[in-house]
Amino acid sequence: MDYKSQINISEVPSHVAIIMDGNGRWAKKHGKPRIFGHKNGVLSVRSVVEGAGEIGLKYLTLYAFSTENWKRPKVEVAALMQLLVATISNEVSALNKNNVRLLTIGDLKSLPGNCEKELQKAMEKTKNNTGLSLVLALSYSSKSEIINAVKSISKDVSEDKLKVEEISDKVFDTYLDTNLMNDPELLIRTSGEYRLSNFLLWQIAYAELYFSDKFWPDFTKEDLFEAIVDYQNRERRFGMTSEQL
Ligand code: FPP
Repeated sequence: MDYKSQINISEVPSHVAIIMDGNGRWAKKHGKPRIFGHKNGVLSVRSVVEGAGEIGLKYLTLYAFSTENWKRPKVEVAALMQLLVATISNEVSALNKNNVRLLTIGDLKSLPGNCEKELQKAMEKTKNNTGLSLVLALSYSSKSEIINAVKSISKDVSEDKLKVEEISDKVFDTYLDTNLMNDPELLIRTSGEYRLSNFLLWQIAYAELYFSDKFWPDFTKEDLFEAIVDYQNRERRFGMTSEQL
């Protein structure tokens, strides 16, 4: 089934967020070490980024590493960081060729120095691109992001830069890592798990949720297109009735 031709291009969501899950189980299924799954996961990232560009998404946010992922075995964490550095440095020219801007959310400072440096370099090199913004969530925790926002707001209130009465959800948005983006209209999670895992908890208040049974390395742009078609067949009421829409 060709899902791409079923997409109404004038109504694609502008921001899709994905919890890429199942690399480890995919590797196990193939009798390989977990890192083999992560390496194949990079191919899915490439396919999905390509697909996102083809249908004109503005933002694609990928959950690449959570703060909780630091608890994984040291060798796996090291291999993931190494893979990230290699992937970013290999892909920068392709990102530029495809007019993709790289952004990150999360605590970049907690990443190994070479990893942070490679990311900063790639963000600098792609900053003028005007097509898709690819947002990598790295060492990311939604609860930490919200707490940091509360701390910054408290500081601004105590320094008379902001009045308590002025705090609204719109103002709160501006204190989050995602302040430059609109909220995701669609959140996808792969691997048949039904959890949010501390990802964009504030921002997905009204997102449509889509769960795929495929492990991430089996997920391609065609699966992204299928999710978008599913999204476009839903009625988003934002608390109103069908008749009011
Ligand atoms: C989840 O699978 C995947 C991750 C924690 C890492 C995702 C990383 C990549 C796809 C590779 C690098 C990414 C970029 C953006 C270059 P899991 O390990 O939790 O799988 P499991 O639940 O089956 O164990």
